[in-house]
Amino acid sequence: MESRGRLRFRFRGRSVEIDRFSPRATVLDWLREEALATGTKEGCGEGDCGACTVVLARLKGGRLRYEAVNACILLLGQLEGVELITIEDLADRDALHPVQQAMVDLHGSQCGFCTPGIVMSLFAAYHSGAPATSSSLNEQLAGNLCRCTGYRPILAAGLSTCDGAPADRFAATAGERVAALAALADGTDLVAGDETRFFAAPASVDSLAALYARYPDATLVAGATDVGLWITKQLRELDQVIWLGPVAGLDAVGEAADGALSLGAGVTLFDAAPHLQRIHPDLGELMRRFGSVQVRTSGTVGGNIANGSPIGDLAPALIALGGRVVLRKGQATRALPLEDFFIGYGKQDRAPGEFVVAIEAPALVDGQHYRAFKISKRFDEDISAVMLGARIDLEERCIAGARIAYGGMAATPKRAVHAERALIGAELDARETWRAALDALASDFAPLTDQRATTAYRMTAATAVLQKTLIEIAGAGAPTRLGALYAAE
Ligand SMILES: Cc1cc2nc3c(=O)[nH]c(=O)nc-3n(C[C@H](O)[C@H](O)[C@H](O)COP(=O)(O)OP(=O)(O)OC[C@H]3O[C@@H](n4cnc5c(N)ncnc54)[C@H](O)[C@@H]3O)c2cc1C
Ligand code: FES
Ligand code: FES
Repeated sequence: MESRGRLRFRFRGRSVEIDRFSPRATVLDWLREEALATGTKEGCGEGDCGACTVVLARLKGGRLRYEAVNACILLLGQLEGVELITIEDLADRDALHPVQQAMVDLHGSQCGFCTPGIVMSLFAAYHSGAPATSSSLNEQLAGNLCRCTGYRPILAAGLSTCDGAPADRFAATAGERVAALAALADGTDLVAGDETRFFAAPASVDSLAALYARYPDATLVAGATDVGLWITKQLRELDQVIWLGPVAGLDAVGEAADGALSLGAGVTLFDAAPHLQRIHPDLGELMRRFGSVQVRTSGTVGGNIANGSPIGDLAPALIALGGRVVLRKGQATRALPLEDFFIGYGKQDRAPGEFVVAIEAPALVDGQHYRAFKISKRFDEDISAVMLGARIDLEERCIAGARIAYGGMAATPKRAVHAERALIGAELDARETWRAALDALASDFAPLTDQRATTAYRMTAATAVLQKTLIEIAGAGAPTRLGALYAAE
């Protein structure tokens, strides 16, 4: 396998090449300590506040895509092949960038910690290619937490500048910057370091399989929205890192042999969202509430499943659909039902050297009804206390099949098999026949009390969202969602 020992990316109009760096170094570390670019701030150090937001310009389909990401949990090596843009780069000599000027003119500027991150998020919106609306800006800024002056002036700054037709010096130099990034994409594996301590970024699935077979104790990193926190919060040493970002084809979206949606493990949560939305609108809404734009832009579908988290959102949502996980070790590939992947707390059915290649999600067919509910303390950018994915199969008005999966209720994402059994044969129009299923949840789960929710809260919420599911599918007409209530106003 042909490999290169130097990390290469673009920064401030030039190529940066680095051959010696810690595999656990973050972009924020590098900016503040090496590049002395201290305009990018550290607030929480865990992807929550957005103070550290920078923008990556990435070549996608021959065009530049501007992605807002959290530098505090992005590894330095993840800059391979992209252009890094920070707050210091926006002004054109003495002339502020249009979004900066609008923030000044409309009084959106706040403290020196939050403002740079907010401006960088607006800069990404400015280059999104579509005119901003209040709701698109609210979504864009959900990952920039502190707004001491309130939302209004910041939204006004975004609305007055982000019109979908960027006219800044970045737009003016797009052609040469595309060419510069294309020149970096040489299709070779990056392996920086030595046998004991390295950052590797294989360019193909075959290279990844070979490398991981050779170093099965290495840490696989996809978006690093989980792994980044191991570094910043748990202070873990990571000596051998294999980053999946450049693996060709791992970000492919396609169809499995049976027509199911196939999402490559490296597909970002942001890119997966429209495909999942097409299966069911609840999945689109779930993805909109998944972390923030910064988290969804970096985080991947594969990472959300492979992390084995009992509170990950995709697992219950896709188990309910009958989803599968596709794994590869060496040359051997196998697929298994998603629910069978989660064996116990922190334990998945994944052998040393084996990695997730894709996640498959079957579409719904006639008679199958789907719902997903995420219960969290904060609407945006919050981990679920309880998460339900449910597919109810109807024959006429009778429940002929049920796949009900919860997150936050057990040590793994788990199906409610007792409730499922009790539902089969129940009549949609006879609510008393649902009762046994709702009661059966107590046989399925004995959830923990933790900082997110108490046992009693989790049980009550889990029962309520299953009941909501049945009410909605029965078409009983009762309002069940805040969104629907607002829409009716
Ligand atoms: C602020 C914030 C908000 C968040 N909000 C949510 C939320 O709303 N819902 C939610 O579910 N999660 C949330 N998360 C958690 C996280 O973003 C997701 O779990 C995300 O999908 C992880 O993907 P990643 O690519 O970043 O994984 P990484 O951090 O790169 O990896 C996670 C784990 O998976 C392993 N891994 C990654 N890819 C593979 C592969 N292909 N094969 C085998 N192993 C692999 C890694 O070794 C690691 O153990 C949030 C995180 C943050 C920081
Ligand atoms: S410092 Fe808070 S998101 Fe990075
Ligand atoms: S603390 Fe920074 S704007 Fe509120």
